[in-house]
Amino acid sequence: MRERAEAAGQGHVFRFWDELDAAGRERLSGQVASIDFEEVARLGALLSAGPPPAPNRFEPPDTFPLERGAELEERAREARARGAERFAAGAVGYVLVAGGQGSRLGYDGPKGCFEVGPVTGRTLFGWLAGRIAAARERHGSVAPWYVMTSATNDAATRAFFAEQDHFGLGAENVRFFTQAMLPALDSEGRIVMSAPDELFLAPNGHGGTLAALSDSGCLDHARERGVETFSYFQVDSPLARPADTLFVGLHALAGAQMSAKVAAKRDADEKVGVLGLVDGKLGCIEYSDLPDDLRHAQTDDGKLLFRAGNIAAHVLERSFVEELTRGELRLPWHLARKEMPMLNEAGTIEKRPGVKFETFVFDALGYAQRSVVLEIDRALEFSPVKNADGADSPASCRADLTRLFRTWQAVAGVPVSEHAVEVAPEFAETEEEFLARMPAEPRRVEGAGVVYD
Ligand code: UTP
Repeated sequence: MRERAEAAGQGHVFRFWDELDAAGRERLSGQVASIDFEEVARLGALLSAGPPPAPNRFEPPDTFPLERGAELEERAREARARGAERFAAGAVGYVLVAGGQGSRLGYDGPKGCFEVGPVTGRTLFGWLAGRIAAARERHGSVAPWYVMTSATNDAATRAFFAEQDHFGLGAENVRFFTQAMLPALDSEGRIVMSAPDELFLAPNGHGGTLAALSDSGCLDHARERGVETFSYFQVDSPLARPADTLFVGLHALAGAQMSAKVAAKRDADEKVGVLGLVDGKLGCIEYSDLPDDLRHAQTDDGKLLFRAGNIAAHVLERSFVEELTRGELRLPWHLARKEMPMLNEAGTIEKRPGVKFETFVFDALGYAQRSVVLEIDRALEFSPVKNADGADSPASCRADLTRLFRTWQAVAGVPVSEHAVEVAPEFAETEEEFLARMPAEPRRVEGAGVVYD
């Protein structure tokens, strides 16, 4: 292993070997054994390669809009019916990506264990599991749920699910799979070490989902279980709708391979990636890549031309993931340059510039022959927990939940609660479902608010 590392110009990873005890040697050699040095060399070459050439042409995508006339409303009805058929047939499996490090939130544990229910403190995993359980009731079918973790949070995630009795979904219907980890590199392309017996490894980005689904046997499992389509969602928004019949139905009617949901950007300067055609191919255009004039460009009716903010909810055909992962999948690398604590030659920790490498799942959109881009109402289905405070934080998310559920109370003609309100996903996922459950008395939770469950 030492020779292999030296031949790759990474011999320094064994610099402190002689000082390590047996456990340290085992840890380090285990990590080094998992390193693909050829890939590390390719990543290292990117450090000096400069940014990829700027695209020539950006265009907004064709979108199934939120404001719909009679014709599109009819299409939406047809799509919902088609989507419902797919769910009822058990043909739609769920893919949750929860392998991220959640460093901005700074919570000690898998992000999914974080409590965001404004009244009950329901966890992010609990919200998403509840939505899957509700879909099971609604459609009278059971489909597997694939949960992606990474080496750092896999054991804790599995333990949490076991503790929660897999949220009543049945352990046989929840399958965990683990994405690959990659070393960070310093500015010279050397593997960063975080301790004498430890490499600095980070998950390879949510683009790693596709290869991990294949390598872990989940694709075979899905095929055996009759899953033809995956509903893909992130761990951080309790309002995510993994069982959205409109989305799955539009995707099916279009014969699409990979589709995406978008929410209108709040303003030109909101720092989110937008979906668009980049030199004719669907992809996500990072905020910093969209030239200023295009960022502010407007349509005739005064909307932003590039407003299709990516919310990272996708539908993918299983056959599409199989095709992509048959050979070696080469999604483009995204480099995150940041100061990171690293071991120096003297064996002490020092903050120095380093680079983390990730691939992103939305880059697979460019490989799809057909895609649907569905515009959703952010108030109804997107309030992510990203930061410890401020925008996209636990506080803003809880406030968004209560705000949404109060509007349902108002429409139902019940006195709007002055306290926090929570509507359990098993009780209702939409305003229509909520109205159909009325009249109903919420449960009061002393000092917290009211909950419909
Ligand atoms: P984010 O881009 O918000 O990253 O992930 P993060 O790692 O969770 O948080 P920060 O940036 O460190 O604060 C969006 C979604 O993609 C998943 C995350 O778990 C989250 O659901 N993800 C991200 C992975 O599954 N693997 C990764 O390598 C990165």
